[in-house]
Amino acid sequence: MFRDPPGGCVSAGAGGVGGPAGVMLKVSGLETGYGRVRILRGVDLEVGAGQIVALLGGNGTGKSTLLRAVSGLLPTWEGSIEFDGETIHRLRPDQIVRRGLVQVTQGKDSYPAMTVEENLMLGAHIRAGRREIADDLERIYGFFPRLRERRSQMSGTLSGGEVQMLVIGRGLMARPRLIMLDEPSAALAPKVVLDIFVAINRIRDTGVTVLIVEQNVRMALLLAEYGYIIRDGLILMEGEAKGLLADPNVKSSFLGGSVAGSEDELVH
Ligand SMILES: Nc1ncnc2c1ncn2[C@@H]1O[C@H](COP(=O)(O)OP(=O)(O)O)[C@@H](O)[C@H]1O
Ligand SMILES: [Mg+2]
Repeated sequence: MFRDPPGGCVSAGAGGVGGPAGVMLKVSGLETGYGRVRILRGVDLEVGAGQIVALLGGNGTGKSTLLRAVSGLLPTWEGSIEFDGETIHRLRPDQIVRRGLVQVTQGKDSYPAMTVEENLMLGAHIRAGRREIADDLERIYGFFPRLRERRSQMSGTLSGGEVQMLVIGRGLMARPRLIMLDEPSAALAPKVVLDIFVAINRIRDTGVTVLIVEQNVRMALLLAEYGYIIRDGLILMEGEAKGLLADPNVKSSFLGGSVAGSEDELVH
């Protein structure tokens, strides 16, 4: 399961990403960074249609950088990024969103002086079709009943968990086929994390593919089918989530004690 050293990489997806439904996102040999500093050093990663795939690793290992490159916010220096079989790494961020690939950024940014519903509607700005938009609002309130309760409240009055629900909901309002979530569990209490992960599972069940970035390795591997572990801008390990959870190297390096009491709800 461990990857060969750089140069002799195991091809991503050999362990079953994709499957009959095919590969939705394919990142190959990706190199990018900031200024002259290279952060990603040849990343290969695939997300199969209909899956939840986890990208795991410690702070500063390049997880958000990878999402930024996929979203078109950072240029691809080397390698390629394909979405639905088409090259997207030369497209602008808005063109990528319009194709159905949406990133929910780390850090829970909402507009505090706007209501919950106004914040959600911002996510629909690229769309026409008021009936459909109204249906999607209902769908999102179904995933996150707390947001329905608070729909007329200023988002500045929400708890951290509710804001995380709001930014995921806002991403869903763009009708993505693939949604990328950057550390949705960060700084939240275990019970709230569980609520959010159960919602992410339901979101996937409605046909939205998910790439989730997490430092909460155990919870993410309970949720996902497949996982990648990144370190220093390189994929260190990849495999089926169940296999990673049971792997002694993953256990010793990444899995501490249990982080939530009732994780059974996530096991499928
Ligand atoms: N805007 C930036 N300018 C320069 N360096 C950055 C910037 N953002 C991130 N980095 C650096 O890139 C590396 C990877 O960061 P990041 O992708 O945010 O890590 P992660 O999301 O895994 O915590 C870190 O060394 C970080 O300091
Ligand atoms: Mg990050």
